[in-house]
Amino acid sequence: MAAGGQTMIAGGETMIFDTHAHYDSGSFNADREELLTQVHAAGVGLIVDPGCDERSSRLALELAQRFDFVYAAVGYHPSDLDKYSPEGWEQILELARHPKCVAIGEIGLDYYWDQSYKDLQKEVFRRQIELALALDKPVIVHDREAHADSLEIVKDYPGLRGVFHCFSGSPEMAAELLKRGWYLGFDGPITYKNARKALEVLEICPEDRILIETDSPYLSPVPMRGKRNDSRNLRYVIETIARIRGLSEEQVEAITWENGKRLFGIA
Ligand code: NI
Repeated sequence: MAAGGQTMIAGGETMIFDTHAHYDSGSFNADREELLTQVHAAGVGLIVDPGCDERSSRLALELAQRFDFVYAAVGYHPSDLDKYSPEGWEQILELARHPKCVAIGEIGLDYYWDQSYKDLQKEVFRRQIELALALDKPVIVHDREAHADSLEIVKDYPGLRGVFHCFSGSPEMAAELLKRGWYLGFDGPITYKNARKALEVLEICPEDRILIETDSPYLSPVPMRGKRNDSRNLRYVIETIARIRGLSEEQVEAITWENGKRLFGIA
């Protein structure tokens, strides 16, 4: 796969892999290129930008083609199905084959915003899982208040690999997923004062299944909460993981770097 960005490790320093950041978002229109350059200079050596519909998937892939250290995922987010169309789906099929598209995402179920499209969400989720399997690429799953249905669907596809992004389920659900080879993504919410369940999950998650994510521009960690998020803020997530797991921050960076590269097939 594309070399360059990820090989700039100087003097044995560790680098950070933000496995989920939406730099295609309009929130970055004013300073996207400059910010990505700053983020990279600050030690973020790899980024995966997942699309949420046909347009944002295309933009994510354009960024991935422009920046060596950025990779894309493509797909329809369950909250963006109002933008779904047969023509858009044809485009996704095309974009998904690109070598810098390393996953299908973000896809899944979201019953928080709207419950009225449950059947459509499930149908599109399955269609996108089948695309990932056909292309032998992993998936990035968004599961918000849809834990039972999400688990039931992914269990139907034993060969499927991927990450439950910003995992918010119970330790029991985590155990089910981990047993099946899934990775779990940890984001800004693990730094919130009321974080409890996510920290319990973090305690039981094997070291080789932990991924770190910002979900930029959303989910800023404490003490940046409420501000636009970017990949530099991963250091607060890394600090929290290091504390909970009894590791150094450098160890957390190195472990999650390797985990991300393994899951997304980045050499
Ligand atoms: Ni996201």
